[in-house]
Amino acid sequence: MVRKELQVMRKRIVVFVIAIVAVVAVLVGYNVFQRTQSKDSARISQVSRTNQGKSKQRPKKNGKVLIVYFSRKKGVSDGPLKIGHTKVVADFIQQRTGADEYEIKAANPYPKSFKATADRAQQEQTDDARPKIKNKLPNVKKYDTVFLGAPVWWSEYPMIVRTFMDAVDLNGKNVVPFTTHKGSGMGSAQNQVEKQYPDANVLEGIGIEGEQAENSQKEVDQWLSKIGY
Ligand SMILES: Cc1cc2nc3c(=O)[nH]c(=O)nc-3n(C[C@H](O)[C@H](O)[C@H](O)COP(=O)(O)O)c2cc1C
Repeated sequence: MVRKELQVMRKRIVVFVIAIVAVVAVLVGYNVFQRTQSKDSARISQVSRTNQGKSKQRPKKNGKVLIVYFSRKKGVSDGPLKIGHTKVVADFIQQRTGADEYEIKAANPYPKSFKATADRAQQEQTDDARPKIKNKLPNVKKYDTVFLGAPVWWSEYPMIVRTFMDAVDLNGKNVVPFTTHKGSGMGSAQNQVEKQYPDANVLEGIGIEGEQAENSQKEVDQWLSKIGY
């Protein structure tokens, strides 16, 4: 009799333990699911805030990559840079993606002094000018993705980048804007790309502070990984 009672008790304990384990497993699973969901939605809303909801988070197919950049080498301090800030960032992207690079070179080069360049850039903006590009344009048909980088000049891409954008159709491709700047972030570069190429898959761009360009490799790599490169 006592043996039978013991057996029943043992069975009850086993059922009780299994029930506890099942409840704990369900609670833990739900918690993890909820955390993943809220992380994802936070990320999505952050991306859409940055990009006014238009830019995509992932390339359709990242395939063959081209980096197009314009860089003046002098920033605002007229300092002794060996290469321009934007070129530094372009090279970090190149190192990670193995992309081809194309530099936009001005037929009429910009002056060395910041002041003279600033005046000219402002005039070009006022005139909605399209300054001539000296070198042959790249054959973009070969590429699935084009990164488009430049310094922010008066809150926008320099007008010579607009010359490039008017001349080259990037609709249907992944297009990724990037800038260097002295406080304005991307300025309106992201919007300019979205407006110019309504049928492109415009990905979330990045703005790197020019004077931090040389220390930005990790940030650039993290951004590239986030957008699928
Ligand atoms: C003509 C001109 C206009 C600029 N306008 C801005 C601006 O509106 N906002 C900003 O944050 N930086 C501005 N800058 C600073 C540059 O964006 C910054 O120094 C950039 O990193 C230079 O890149 P680069 O060395 O590749 O040419 C301007 C610089 C120049 C020469």
